[in-house]
Amino acid sequence: MVVGFNEKARTDKWKIASHVLGLETSIIREILKISSQPGVISFAGGLPAPEMFPLDDMLEALGVVFKKYGHTSVQYSLSRGITELRELIAARATKRGTKSEIDNILIVSGAQQGIELVARAFIEPGDYIITENPTYLGALQAFNYYRARYATVEMDDEGMIIDQVERQIERHHPKMIYTVSNFQNPTGITMSEPRRRALLELAIANDIPILDDNPYGDIRFAGKPVPTMKCLGGDAVITVRTFSKVLAPGLRVGWMNGPKEIMGQFEKVKQCADLHTNALLQYMIYEYISAGKLEPQIERIKVDYRKKRDLMLQAMRDEFPQGIRWTEPEGGLFLWVTLPGHVSAKELFPRAIERKVAYVYGETSYPNGGGENTFRLNFSNASHADIVEGIGRLGKLFRENI
Ligand SMILES: Cc1ncc(COP(=O)(O)O)c(C=O)c1O
Repeated sequence: MVVGFNEKARTDKWKIASHVLGLETSIIREILKISSQPGVISFAGGLPAPEMFPLDDMLEALGVVFKKYGHTSVQYSLSRGITELRELIAARATKRGTKSEIDNILIVSGAQQGIELVARAFIEPGDYIITENPTYLGALQAFNYYRARYATVEMDDEGMIIDQVERQIERHHPKMIYTVSNFQNPTGITMSEPRRRALLELAIANDIPILDDNPYGDIRFAGKPVPTMKCLGGDAVITVRTFSKVLAPGLRVGWMNGPKEIMGQFEKVKQCADLHTNALLQYMIYEYISAGKLEPQIERIKVDYRKKRDLMLQAMRDEFPQGIRWTEPEGGLFLWVTLPGHVSAKELFPRAIERKVAYVYGETSYPNGGGENTFRLNFSNASHADIVEGIGRLGKLFRENI
């Protein structure tokens, strides 16, 4: 009998391991399925704008790769990643203030794999992780697999509230601090420099590593740059970064930058996971960047996303009734909406779908529950016309139901 992907595995027959049966499929994936119905304007996904994918330049780089590296480009390769790309990433980081050498860099199959490798290497059942509240759902999925527990910390518009971090350290002796410090998914909030320094001070004093998940750091289109956690914290910080948001997410290429003495541990666990990241695409990205294409590409994205953010914010000001608050991110792909306390964004979701507009309700991103009155909007993926129309539909929904 063929078991469809949607069928629940029959535990008696297949004896699926309990740690897998206990996993929930991402609610966001379910929301995305509903959101992809015809005619629905979706602000739910975290998708970059497809028109920003530099297809011609990537094709050109691929041509160069086949000519220059031949068989090597499609042969089995090193688990730590191809040397050329690691060197280039280290040099780029150093140029931007994070002194890095090749042995600090491990290429991974997307930032998501970086998070997974860190969880695999560090987390034992019951270990506490400090996270922002709310936080990135994909990280929670990776941590849940290792049966982590969460010591959550509220944010204001400067990021984590440091008193709460201090209290959570005292109470739970966490194994790790996980932060999305730049243009956070889901809230769009960026941690201020004083908060970063205070967080680092606490982490270093208590010997707790910080995992800084930084996929959006390059996409700052407003406000003043803030030094990265890695730049300020050196070896106290392991950072995961990615080409997903500045090139294309389907490439599945990202990297980790961490202390040399532990990168071997991550390499070991990566070897178990997938031997190595797609070598052809690592060479392609190397050639693409070497041809000087990445920085102009990032500039194009910033211009595009800034326009879309501005359009969405203006439409919200025009359409949303009193009593609704939202963040105004200076970069990244998302903003975060807070409805009046008694209103459930999850309960309103089916009504939004009836009106052919979708968001991700926020409670999925709270590790220990809460956030029923919140939701996330993505502004990078929809067209200008759909942003205006979709926010108009949401505004009408809220005016009629709040
Ligand atoms: C905070 C955060 N970390 C990691 C990822 C995963 O990125 P990648 O495509 O590089 O695996 C995402 C993707 O949306 C994200 O928002």
